[in-house]
Amino acid sequence: MGLFISMEGPDGSGKTLQMDMLQKALIEAGYPVLRTREPGGPAISERIRALLLDPACKEMSPETEALLYAAARAQHVSQVIKPAMAEGKVVLCDRFVDSSLVYQGIGRGLGVSTIGEINHFATGGLQPDVTIVLQIDYAEGLRRKNVQYSGQLDRMEQQAGSFHQLVHDGFSQIVEWDPERVRMVDGSKAPEEVHTMIMEVLKPWLDRVLPQ
Ligand code: TMP
Repeated sequence: MGLFISMEGPDGSGKTLQMDMLQKALIEAGYPVLRTREPGGPAISERIRALLLDPACKEMSPETEALLYAAARAQHVSQVIKPAMAEGKVVLCDRFVDSSLVYQGIGRGLGVSTIGEINHFATGGLQPDVTIVLQIDYAEGLRRKNVQYSGQLDRMEQQAGSFHQLVHDGFSQIVEWDPERVRMVDGSKAPEEVHTMIMEVLKPWLDRVLPQ
C-alpha cells in the first residue's frame, strides 16, 4: 500500500533542499517516488495556495486560513496522495496536517483539537507513516528566507516573530506527542549531514518497501 513520508519544519528550515536530496536518493535506489507539497499538489490546491500565500490577502481571518489549508489538503489527498499510495508509490510530501496543527492550531491559537477535527474530515484520517521535522531556530530560518528571496516574503513568512516562535516550539511539541511517527532532525547542520541523518531515520520504513 505504498509509503507516506512527510517533511515538516519552520520556514527556512531547509525542507526544499532536503526534499530534493531525498527524492534523488530514493529514485537512484529504485523506489517509485511521487513528490508533492502542501499547500498545493493538484491544480485546484495550487490555486488555493496562491490565495493563502498572497501578501495582498492581509484581511484573511485565522478561521478562513485554517479552512483553506484543509480544503487544499482534501483535494490533494483524494486526487493525488490516495491514488499514488494505492499504486504502491513512496509519497514524499512537503508539509501535511502537522503544519496545520502547528501554524493554525498553535500559532494562530485556534486549538490543536479543532484543527485536528477539521483535518480529519479533510483527509478521512489519512496520516503519514513517518514524518521528519527539520528543526531550526526561527530567526535563522527567516534570515535564510530573506537571503533566498531578497526580502520578498510571502503572507505567512511576514507574520510577527512571536508567531514564528510559537511555530518553532509547536513543532517540538508535535514530536513529543507522537514520537513513534514524528522524528526530529537538526536542520542547522550542513545539508549533506542533514541528508545522512534523514536517510538513517527513514531506513526502517524504507526497508518495508521493495525498490523496483
Ligand atoms: P512552504 O513555504 O513550506 O511551501 O509552506 C507555505 C507556508 O504555509 C508556510 O509558511 C507554512 C504555511 N502552512 C500553514 O500555515 N499551514 C499548513 O497546513 C501548511 C501546509 C502550510
